[in-house]
Amino acid sequence: MPINFSEIGWRDLNERSLRKEIFHGRIFHIQVHPEIVRSLFPELQKNLSLFFPDNFLNLRFSSQTTHTLLSRFRETMHSKGTLKTIGHSFLKKVLIENHSQTTNHILADLPRVRSLSPESHLDEKAKKAFYAHRDTWYANSPSQINLWIPLHPIDPSNSFVFFPEYFQRSVLNDSAEFKLGEFIHSGGFQNSLNTNSFPTTQEIICGGDSFYCDTGEAIVFSAHHLHTTSPNVSLKNRWSMEFRIVYSEDREQGLEAFELDNMSSGDFTESFSELI
Ligand SMILES: [Fe+2]
Repeated sequence: MPINFSEIGWRDLNERSLRKEIFHGRIFHIQVHPEIVRSLFPELQKNLSLFFPDNFLNLRFSSQTTHTLLSRFRETMHSKGTLKTIGHSFLKKVLIENHSQTTNHILADLPRVRSLSPESHLDEKAKKAFYAHRDTWYANSPSQINLWIPLHPIDPSNSFVFFPEYFQRSVLNDSAEFKLGEFIHSGGFQNSLNTNSFPTTQEIICGGDSFYCDTGEAIVFSAHHLHTTSPNVSLKNRWSMEFRIVYSEDREQGLEAFELDNMSSGDFTESFSELI
């Protein structure tokens, strides 16, 4: 059943009380100001068009082609720092309206651009993308907030799925196998041949809520939420951008989701940087 999200504005995330609600499991739906969308999407699409055909948002690609082209895109963008510049400037605009205000209290991961082929769920090498998981099982902080932004309208045929009923319920899982240092050493998320543990559940998970999200909207949720990518049964690839942020004061003061079942080791937040 599709989720009925609560709506907030971006800058509200600067309110501790609101972040507390996120750490208690609320999932929010945010309308990005059209001008801010215009400052992100054309630039991002222009860079993606260097690797994909111009009309890539209307096309489907095989799982292998998606992986190959996206890897080249990431490699180039990360080496030039382009993605970080585009992404962090976007985050800064949406989180802090007044740019004279400091943003050095917000730590952010490198922005991630993702594309899911309609064939991915049939690809043996991509199966780990479909594991139900909490991001905290990958050594992400329980103070982490995820911002997920699609580059086109999303519906249950190509969204992912939350399991809100497990937010306050322990789930059997193999996160104890996840050691951040070893994971990074072997290529991290970008290495499809990475044989290190991708934590997942070890019990049958019931339910699951998908969602609708329009262009220029975003979904905001705690890294502790159990979720999974569902097979993309639409006719085109799904395109999205994802940001992971941690407010330093939350990390220092233990404002975070209550961890029930995370046994991973390491702290991904140490690789985050202040918004540039
Ligand atoms: Fe995730």
